[in-house]
Amino acid sequence: MELTWEELHHQCMQCEKCALSRTRTNVVFGVGVTDAEVMFIGEGPGENEDLQGEPFVGRGGQLLDKYLDAIGLDRKKNIYIGNMVKCRPPQNRDPKPEEQEACIGWLRSQVRLLRPKIIVCLGRIAAQRLIDPAFRVTKEHGKFIKKNGTWMMGTFHPAALLRNPNQKPDAFEDFLALREKIREVCEHTHL
Ligand code: URA
Repeated sequence: MELTWEELHHQCMQCEKCALSRTRTNVVFGVGVTDAEVMFIGEGPGENEDLQGEPFVGRGGQLLDKYLDAIGLDRKKNIYIGNMVKCRPPQNRDPKPEEQEACIGWLRSQVRLLRPKIIVCLGRIAAQRLIDPAFRVTKEHGKFIKKNGTWMMGTFHPAALLRNPNQKPDAFEDFLALREKIREVCEHTHL
């Protein structure tokens, strides 16, 4: 039987399926509303997220919130934000394949409960795992493909935009395309 959000959250908080559980401060389960039609998936918690227990709360998160706000989205009102791995990889390294493998069941359960109309992958790690192993963000960002009944799109990771501000206009275009897709396929996300 499917777990409820509360049960899933409770179980995830105790997870020791991989070594990241030994160095974490907090499990970063996810944030948002549980009837969201749009889900964002990042890579994994950084230092601030590990300390606060919430995804995207550092400088990258502030930038993400600006893009969200520009198209009428808000983590407290109409979206859900999760990550490929729920515990911080030390020194912000990429999560290892075995860590992603150990963690993906939590994300799958979140997607099953949410049943989003649209999933936006923030950065290469999520896009390669969820859209296409050969996904190239610079080439394929902003393109929607339908997978198992869900519209999927990959865009730049906010941290990458902080490093390469010249990519910000392209990222903004992706958010405008997202707004169009939401208007087309979502039922109660009114923008
Ligand atoms: N980067 C991510 O991919 N996720 C977070 O939650 C924070 C930074």
